[in-house]
Amino acid sequence: MSVITKASQSAVYNDGVVRWFAIAAVVYGVVGMLVGVIIAAQMIWPDLTAGIPWLSFGRLRPLHTNAVIFAFGGCVLFATSYYIVQRTCHTRLISDKLAWVTFWGYNLVIVLAVITLPLGITSGKEYAELEWPIDILLALVWVLYAVVFFGTISIRKVRHIYVANWFFGAFIIAVALLHIVNSAALPVSWTDSYSAYAGVQDAMVQWWYGHNAVGFFLTAAFLGMMYYFIPKQAERPIYSYRLSIVHFWALIFTYMWAGPHHLHYTALPDWTQSIGMVFSLILLAPSWGGMINGIMTLSGAWHKLRDDPILRFLIVSLSFYGMSTFEGPMMSIKTVNALSHYTDWTIGHVHSGALGWVGLISMGSLYYLIPRLFGQKKMFSVPAIELHFWVAVIGIVLYIASMWIAGVMQGLMWRSINPDGTLTYTFVEALSATYPFYVIRLIGGTLYFGGMVIMLWNVIMTARNGRPVDVSIPAVNPAHA
Ligand code: HEM
Ligand code: HEM
Repeated sequence: MSVITKASQSAVYNDGVVRWFAIAAVVYGVVGMLVGVIIAAQMIWPDLTAGIPWLSFGRLRPLHTNAVIFAFGGCVLFATSYYIVQRTCHTRLISDKLAWVTFWGYNLVIVLAVITLPLGITSGKEYAELEWPIDILLALVWVLYAVVFFGTISIRKVRHIYVANWFFGAFIIAVALLHIVNSAALPVSWTDSYSAYAGVQDAMVQWWYGHNAVGFFLTAAFLGMMYYFIPKQAERPIYSYRLSIVHFWALIFTYMWAGPHHLHYTALPDWTQSIGMVFSLILLAPSWGGMINGIMTLSGAWHKLRDDPILRFLIVSLSFYGMSTFEGPMMSIKTVNALSHYTDWTIGHVHSGALGWVGLISMGSLYYLIPRLFGQKKMFSVPAIELHFWVAVIGIVLYIASMWIAGVMQGLMWRSINPDGTLTYTFVEALSATYPFYVIRLIGGTLYFGGMVIMLWNVIMTARNGRPVDVSIPAVNPAHA
C-alpha cells in the first residue's frame, strides 16, 4: 500500500471531488427530468397524482426547475470548473477540505430543497424559491466555492488565465451577488419570510436576478465549458482567442441590463422596459460571436462530427444556443412579447435553451470527463452515446416545436376579437386546442428523459469497469511560467 504524503498529493490533481460532482449531476439529471415528465403529464391529466398536495403541479414545478437548473446544472458546473481550473492552472485545488465542504454543503442545500418545495415551503420567487435558512447556507457554500476557485487561480503555475476560467469566475461572482441581493428578506419564522422589497421594485429585483440566472448560471458558465471541451475533443485550438475575450466582456456587460424584458406591459416604468428590450437586442451580437467561435473551432476537422458522438453533443448544443439567443431578443421586442408572454411559446424558448444548449453541452462534457475520471480510454458503450444523442435530439425537436405552435396559437386565439368587440374564443377553447401539443411535448420530454437514463447506465458501467485514478500534474514549460 502506498503512503500518500502531502508532497506526493500536490503532484496530482484532486479529481475525487470532480468525480462525485459528476456522478451526482447524472443522478440529479435523471430525477429532475423525471419530475419534468410528470408535470408535463399532469398538464394532460390534471388528476394524475390523485389530489395529493405535495405531488400537485404547483409544488412539483419548482422542484423540477430547481432540480434541473441547480442540482443537475450546478453539479455539472462544480465538476467541470474544478476539473478545468486545475488543468489550465497546472496545479491542484488550493484546499481539498474546502472543496469537499462545497460538495457536501451544496448537496445539503439540494436535499433541503427536495424536502421543502413539495411541502409548499417557498418564498414564491421564481428560481429563488428556497426559504431564508437554506438561502444563508447556500450563500456560505458559494463563498467557499469562490475561495476554492479563485484560490486555485492564485497559486497557478502558468502566467496566463485561460478564458474558460474568466467565464467561470464571472459566473461565481455574479451568482453570489444576484443570490444575496434577491434573497434579502425579513424572516417571520423558520419557514416563512417577506421580501425586503415591495411592489414593482420587488418585481424588478426578481427579474434582474431571474434573467441573470439565465445569463450567468445557464450561459456564462456553460460557455466556460464550451471553451475547454470543444477544443479538447476536436483536438483543435479555439478558432479565435481574441474573439473569446471580446465575447466575454461584451456578454457579461450586456446581460446585466436585459432583465426588464420579463416585465413588459407591467407597472414597471416604460423607459425601463425599453432599456431591457434594447439591451436584449444588443445581446444577440456577443451570443452569436461566441457560438461562431465555438463552431468554427471545428474548421478543418468537420469530418470528426461524423463518427464522434461526443463532439456532436457539444457542437449541436451550440446550434441550439444560437437558436435560443436569436429567439430571445425577438421575444424581447415589446410587440412580439405582447403575443408570446403567458403562452407556451415562452416554455418552448426556455427548453430550446435548457434541453438543447444546457443539456447537450453538459452531456457532451460529462461523456468527455467520466472515462478520464475512472482511468478508462472511453465510455463503456459508444453506441449508447450515439443512441442517447439521437433520442435526445428527436425529443428536443418534438418538445420545442409543439410548444412554439401551441404558444403562437394561444396568443392568436386570446387576442382574436369579433366585429362587436367580444372575444372570439373563450379561454377554455384555447386550452382544449392546446391538448394535442401537450401530448407531443410529453412524448418529446419522455424521449429526452430516456436518453438521460441510458446515460446513467453507461456511466455506472464505465465506473464499474474502471477505478478512480490520480492524474499527475505535468511540468510547466518555463516559457509559460
Ligand atoms: C425531460 C425533460 C424535461 C421535461 C419533460 C420538462 C418539462 C417541463 C414542464 C412541463 C414545465 C412546466 C411548463 C409550464 O408551466 O407550462 C417545465 C418548466 C421549466 N423547465 Fe423543464 N422539462 C425538462 C427538462 C428541463 C431542463 C433540462 C431544464 C433546465 C436545464 C428545464 C428548465 C425548466 C424551466 C426553467 C422551466 C420554467 C419555465 C418558465 O417558467 O417559463 N427543464 N419543464
Ligand atoms: C440573447 C439571449 C436571450 C434573450 C435576449 C432572452 C430573452 C427572453 C425573453 C424576452 C423571455 C420572455 C419573457 C416573458 O415574456 O416573460 C425569455 C424567457 C426565458 N428565457 Fe430567455 N433569452 C435569451 C436566452 C436564453 C437562454 C440561452 C436560456 C436558457 C438556457 C433562456 C432561458 C429563459 C427562461 C428560463 C425564461 C423564462 C423565464 C420565466 O418567465 O420563468 N433564455 N427570455
